[in-house]
Amino acid sequence: MRNEDLVEQFREMKQRRERVTALTAYDYPTARLLDESGLDVILVGDSLGMVVLGYEDTTHVLLNEILHHTRAVARGVKRALLVADLPIHTYDTPEQALQTARQLIEAGARAVKLEGGLSHVAQIEAITSAGIPFMAHIGMLPQSVREEGGYKVKGRSREQAEALLADARAVQEAGAFSIVLEIVAPDTAKMISHAVNIPTIGIGSGNGCDGEILVTHDLIGLFPWFTPKFVAQEAHVAEQIRAAATAFVDRTRTPPCHSERNEVESRNPVAEA
Ligand code: KIV
Repeated sequence: MRNEDLVEQFREMKQRRERVTALTAYDYPTARLLDESGLDVILVGDSLGMVVLGYEDTTHVLLNEILHHTRAVARGVKRALLVADLPIHTYDTPEQALQTARQLIEAGARAVKLEGGLSHVAQIEAITSAGIPFMAHIGMLPQSVREEGGYKVKGRSREQAEALLADARAVQEAGAFSIVLEIVAPDTAKMISHAVNIPTIGIGSGNGCDGEILVTHDLIGLFPWFTPKFVAQEAHVAEQIRAAATAFVDRTRTPPCHSERNEVESRNPVAEA
């Protein structure tokens, strides 16, 4: 789909007050399950680095890693809009941003996202003027966590709120079809949502946005070592994995449970598909 058509489609969703639903995926089965659940957007986010690859933050993620996971996710997505993140230092110049965006599209994404507002207008314009659909990301920017010294709420002061509004207007002007607002003070997020005509998609930014995005591992409780305060979990998958693994260890170590069942019902994915 052309960028202009996607911008129009998302503007119309906002006019109809249809809230945008978005979750992350990094592998084929999750992508397929999310896609079948009717989500609007599936993001191969660079949160990949933390919740799948075990890095301390997203600043370690490499382009090859995002490309690898984007290819896997693309195989599972039929309906939703598949967006992929440009990792840190893969968009330092407009030329580099466009080259990275093209690689992500080649890997199966239909749109791309990078972190930054006014500071990155040249990069965003390079992407959108090449016809590549673009999702913006402003507010708390995880790729800047080291400079910032932590994940801090943005837009609490009047100056910060005005700066964020300027960012939002700039990315809209540069051709974005939607704007992720990460950990923005709820009043500011609401004010920005009223000021732009493309949907804002909040994460930890209150209920005044036009949609919501979450890291799937947070939503389903698959990364139990850290869950952001703003996440309302809908499942506790880590506990189920632990219980299943413990049951397996117990039954395998306890004769005669290492058993007929294992021998008779050997797994044949082709026959079961
Ligand atoms: O990387 C990611 O998962 C993201 C979302 C949290 C918005 O950018």
